[in-house]
Amino acid sequence: MSKKKLVFSGVQPTGNLHLGNYLGALKNFVNLQKDNECIFCVVDLHAITVFQDPVELKNNILETVAAFVAAGLDHNKSIIFNQSSVSGHSELAWIFNCVARIGWLNRMTQFKEKAGKDKEKASVGLYIYPNLMAADILLYKSSHVPVGADQKQHLELCRDIAQKFNNDFGAANFFPVPEPLISNTISRVMSLRDGLKKMSKSEESDFSRINLKDDADLIVQKIKKAKTDSASISDNLEDLNKRPEVLNLINIYAELSGISLQNALKEFAGKDFSHLKNKLAEILVATICPIGNKMKELLKDTKSLENILNKGSEKARKIAENTIKETKKIVGLF
Ligand code: TRP
Repeated sequence: MSKKKLVFSGVQPTGNLHLGNYLGALKNFVNLQKDNECIFCVVDLHAITVFQDPVELKNNILETVAAFVAAGLDHNKSIIFNQSSVSGHSELAWIFNCVARIGWLNRMTQFKEKAGKDKEKASVGLYIYPNLMAADILLYKSSHVPVGADQKQHLELCRDIAQKFNNDFGAANFFPVPEPLISNTISRVMSLRDGLKKMSKSEESDFSRINLKDDADLIVQKIKKAKTDSASISDNLEDLNKRPEVLNLINIYAELSGISLQNALKEFAGKDFSHLKNKLAEILVATICPIGNKMKELLKDTKSLENILNKGSEKARKIAENTIKETKKIVGLF
């Protein structure tokens, strides 16, 4: 008998969720929820590794929950909660700070990118961020973690921590060594202005992304203005790899319509960009607007969203408290 999967994932409440978050994470979560036990966490403690305005943070936490629910996550089936409500995350992270080696953290490329040139000025939290992420996952003894390319290295570190903990304390198999779930959907939605950059909430131009709360008119405008070129659309992938903006639009279309890239290429090869853009805008409006509208509706009643978090935190806490109790015993803490 194969053991049931326990899936854990976290999303940072940084606000302004966009198409990249939908296709890269939320849509996949909804699929995973069908056949697995799932825990979806709004990782507010990760968010504060860089300064967050307190009022905005609170709104962004609620907005992330609203996006979860609007995209189709079911809080009665899966556990939906925010990280800081379950103290076990911080407690286990401290123990992992003592298990992980400085050399391991020094290899993390995301820290190097985020800290930039002046590493001395980055918060300590940003540096040990991956240890907290390992705590998130292992606190629930999760077996599977959906990860995009940018989080693969952090999951590797989590696996190393699990193994080192089990070894150091002679607690074979106490923490499972979690497996990545690489989704077969596109993991990267690129900017509409620059096909080599990831779609991101921090890019200056709002026309570089489709936000989940954009209305239909704005979506149509953004797609109309999306960067393309003057050559005709070809179905040759090698050619399209040199035209990342065009490839990105076709990729998004394929993803939203549930067809393969090959079939999307066949559909558009030789046709005008206006045809591709019309079809793409149409399917974007049909997919994204209902989610955005639902989010806006949910955000009118923040009490209900808080209730969802409270209920989820309670369920999460039960599992977490047990793991913390066992872990402390293994480490020799009272
Ligand atoms: N680091 C992840 C990101 O920025 C978020 C995250 C925190 C996470 N804890 C996690 C993802 C645990 C998966 C599992 O995207």
